[in-house]
Amino acid sequence: MKKILNKTELSHHIDALKAQGKSVGFVPTMGALHNGHLSLVNKGLEKNDLVVVSIFVNPTQFDNQEDLVKYPRTLDADVALLLTLSDTTIIVYAPSVEDIYEGNVKSQSFTFDGLEHEMEGAFRDGHFDGVGTIVKRLLEIVKPDFAYFGEKDFQQLQIIKKLVELHHIPVKIVGCTIHRAEDGLAMSSRNTRLTKEHRVIAPFIYKTLKTAKVKFGTKSAKDVTEWVEKQFKKQPLLELEYFIIADTKTLKPVKRKSTKKTYRAFIAVYAGDIRLIDNIALN
Ligand code: PAJ
Repeated sequence: MKKILNKTELSHHIDALKAQGKSVGFVPTMGALHNGHLSLVNKGLEKNDLVVVSIFVNPTQFDNQEDLVKYPRTLDADVALLLTLSDTTIIVYAPSVEDIYEGNVKSQSFTFDGLEHEMEGAFRDGHFDGVGTIVKRLLEIVKPDFAYFGEKDFQQLQIIKKLVELHHIPVKIVGCTIHRAEDGLAMSSRNTRLTKEHRVIAPFIYKTLKTAKVKFGTKSAKDVTEWVEKQFKKQPLLELEYFIIADTKTLKPVKRKSTKKTYRAFIAVYAGDIRLIDNIALN
């Protein structure tokens, strides 16, 4: 498998492949790969001649230094996992901070039609400026035909679609469904940092989302939200940061339900020090 550490070499390589008429898919990641990531890579492999997987723990999107320092870094294991999918049609791009930021580790400032102020934007200061900065830079380096993002980070997916639209970046963004462990917990690189106790209780998050979905069929968003908050109060090992039912397009919290709109429930929960997010389509 081709493993490339710097952008100039990657650009040359991709330019040569594109000159042969090959289509390029792109899956940006922060590594510590799991089956959720692999489902994105597989989707890319179905549609493209080759898939670039970037592995880069992006410092500018972390609002919490401890989370950045403790973020798992497992490049050899990541490459081994990707090898189980394909040896010849995947390129791993694992740049250094210097290769990406060239001595200036700072975010650009973005607006995304207000999407950036909701949920993760409200609770993680500067997060989406960091995500916008890195994804824009990576798309400029890789120049893919298709780029794949998970609905696990649904707000991020909507923001990337907006980034591409507002900045006229010639790529098609493809959203991919959430991959879950057998017990329902959404796969995440952070799951490996959960204590045994927290890992056992964590599927409670998705279980609650599924019941909230059923309740939303007959009850108001306010009633469902209060019910969810009550469930988490009874759960000493999990601390609810937010549960929000929002319009799928604008990501604004729903005030009055409309049959013409689609909604999603979004949740962020602390299991000890580890912050977990999940979401579910409601209608
Ligand atoms: P990371 O958390 O590594 O996720 C990389 C991609 O995998 C994202 O598009 C994410 O939504 C998707 N993903 C993660 N877990 C998933 C799951 N259980 N099911 C389906 N898709 C899943 O998201 C980031 O990295 C970064 O913000 C990044 C976009 C790479 C920018 O630094």
